[in-house]
Amino acid sequence: MTSTRTTATGERGAPPPALHAQDLVVEYPAGRGRKVHAVSGVSLDVAAGETLGILGESGCGKSTVGRALIQLPPPDSGTVRLGGVTLTGLAPGELRRARARMQIIMQDPVSALNPRRRVKDLVWEGPSIWGSGDATRDKDTRTDDALRDVGLDPATVRERRPHELSGGQCQRVCIARALLLDPEVLICDEPVSSLDVSVQAQILNLLETTTRRRGLSMVFIAHDVSVVKNISDRVMVMYLGKVCEVLPSDGMQHEALHPYTRLLLASLPQARRGPGTAGDPAPPAELPSPLSPPSGCRFRTRCPLATDLCSQQEPPLRDIRPGHRVACHHVEPKGNHA
Ligand SMILES: Nc1ncnc2c1ncn2[C@@H]1O[C@H](COP(=O)(O)OP(=O)(O)O)[C@@H](O)[C@H]1O
Ligand SMILES: [Mg+2]
Repeated sequence: MTSTRTTATGERGAPPPALHAQDLVVEYPAGRGRKVHAVSGVSLDVAAGETLGILGESGCGKSTVGRALIQLPPPDSGTVRLGGVTLTGLAPGELRRARARMQIIMQDPVSALNPRRRVKDLVWEGPSIWGSGDATRDKDTRTDDALRDVGLDPATVRERRPHELSGGQCQRVCIARALLLDPEVLICDEPVSSLDVSVQAQILNLLETTTRRRGLSMVFIAHDVSVVKNISDRVMVMYLGKVCEVLPSDGMQHEALHPYTRLLLASLPQARRGPGTAGDPAPPAELPSPLSPPSGCRFRTRCPLATDLCSQQEPPLRDIRPGHRVACHHVEPKGNHA
């Protein structure tokens, strides 16, 4: 199979990205010499203050990309640059220090927190590990401020342990803990998927207002189209370890061109997706095995437009118009379906 670079990089001439990843490849050993091709040549840029959404169904490699970005574990190949620093290839000590500038919020906030520790110590974990001198002063004041910033009342939660909090409160503690390290980039991996619907909106709102106020960049990973679309400036759609489309989230339901993105949008209830995708076919069968991805275009086995060309050649990710890239043989650069 030919390897084609896939990229979600921003506009030419724009300021240098806060986060840049190039050609990330992650393969997991699967016994008997086989490999899971979890991420196969993914590139992306996130500008300062921008939110890039990563969308795709379960198993397409979203979390693996998120973990490769923070180098836990590092990708098998490819590079990650945070600000001006190339993380890939740093010595372990330097990497740990540089990595503090990029914090990750996980799907399950309860298991992300040590059950034996109190909230005040959980929130202070970063400075207690990383800080020295001034950085570790004023623990009580700064911990309380961090809790207030995420909408928690310090007097109520300071002394509690994770099991004495709700899921939403635990996620707020995780966010407070991440923000206390004053990161430049926040990676959120399905941060609301384990929460009640009523709490989801509150946490999304908190993430959105916090990143905007602090000018933080965010990579927001989720399988839920409407969640990703609402919180992101741009959306990168992944399928079986590759990027198939990158586009602005505004007007995404009208502008999406890749058949897979259109299937994802068509799976939304009409009221949530707006007009424009009603004629698309229903989503067909399951994701093929990442142990032996289809030749050519990985989406071809489920694609309503697939032809022989799709099994023979991998479609490159091409600019369709500024800020919009699509990897499909059947989408022309002017945006007309072939
Ligand atoms: N530690 C691992 N060992 C083996 N396979 C893994 C591991 N983590 C993820 N995978 C596989 O890699 C693929 C991508 O997984 P993941 O990145 O978790 O996808 P997503 O977050 O989109 O659901 C899946 O096929 C998954 O089963
Ligand atoms: Mg995941």
